[in-house]
Amino acid sequence: MRANIPATQTVIEIKQPGGPDVLVPATRPVPEPKTGEVLIRITAAGVNRADCLQRMGRYPMPPGAPDIPGLECSGTIVKIGDGVAEWREGDQVCALLIGDGYGEYAAVPAVQCLPVPAGVSLVDAGGLPETFCTVWTNVFDRIHLKAGEIFLQQGGSSGIGMTAIQLAKAFGATVLTTAGSDEKCQACRDYGADLAINYRTQDFVEVAKAFTNGRGVDAIFDMVGGDYIPRELDLLAPEGRLCFVALMRGARVEADFGLIQRKHLTVTGSTLRPRPVAEKAAIIASLREKVWPLWAAGKLRTFTYRRFSLTEAAEAHRLMESSRHIGKILLVP
Ligand SMILES: NC(=O)c1ccc[n+]([C@@H]2O[C@H](COP(=O)([O-])OP(=O)(O)OC[C@H]3O[C@@H](n4cnc5c(N)ncnc54)[C@H](OP(=O)(O)O)[C@@H]3O)[C@@H](O)[C@H]2O)c1
Repeated sequence: MRANIPATQTVIEIKQPGGPDVLVPATRPVPEPKTGEVLIRITAAGVNRADCLQRMGRYPMPPGAPDIPGLECSGTIVKIGDGVAEWREGDQVCALLIGDGYGEYAAVPAVQCLPVPAGVSLVDAGGLPETFCTVWTNVFDRIHLKAGEIFLQQGGSSGIGMTAIQLAKAFGATVLTTAGSDEKCQACRDYGADLAINYRTQDFVEVAKAFTNGRGVDAIFDMVGGDYIPRELDLLAPEGRLCFVALMRGARVEADFGLIQRKHLTVTGSTLRPRPVAEKAAIIASLREKVWPLWAAGKLRTFTYRRFSLTEAAEAHRLMESSRHIGKILLVP
């Protein structure tokens, strides 16, 4: 046995595809870090919507991805694989994972780790990598949001939404957002949104057009899709950009593509989990250089809504699927 590292750990397995109760504790070996990897003793793991889809058997798993869910974690490095120079045993990090976050230990490429940001607790850090990598690679690398532009974030109270609101504000955009209740709208304003639209009681296109004197918005970051798509094409200003990371209300719609041509729009989207390690490493490096200093400058706040113990993973999924949460749900082994 390695010093202080047990041979086995408790993980949460998906017994079979289904509802939250298929998430059950199991015993698995603690992995050995391979070349280029570090072994993390997990302090907290973020719960993400993709975990719910994976549990239901509705997530296209990348080849070689582990069956244990969990796309991000924080914790302490307890073992270093060959060829890793940038981290030491004892370092406290948060990391982007391809899976295995719902456990006590995870082996991860060293290049997918970030230091715990200044002023952030080790627990809260477990909910940062997935949303920060997703928002950075899409809103800034893909649709190039710039200072002075008007940005609309759909689903502002989600983990993704609260990250995007803060980053868009920090980089000088005016931020509009939508959310499904007045309480969620207030939370979005608390985190920096200039205008929060309760989409259940207001038409986001009308409100956003009024806000921009009819011009429309420069960029939209969306996870809703479905009937939002034709309305978003209508709302975008000339040269506007629309980016999807999910299509919770559907991927097939009828829309006027003439708007894309006439207004010179860009429509794009991406996934994160199946990308090669080198691409994830580039996103992590960019975050470390351009975004992590914002924590020390006091421009970013964590947004943990609730913590559950690892063995309460089913409860955590029930909360996520209720959409009552505002911000991140964490599992703490
Ligand atoms: N492509 C990628 O790389 C990538 C990476 C990370 C996450 N994602 C996706 O991004 C989305 C947000 O992730 P998250 O972990 O931040 O999730 P989350 O915190 O659960 O947020 C989802 C929010 O969307 C709203 N919502 C739920 N069901 C909806 C529906 N059917 N129609 C419209 N709105 C609905 C809810 O807020 P309201 O009450 O306001 O409706 C909910 O809080 C997920 O779909 C996730 O799969 C994609």
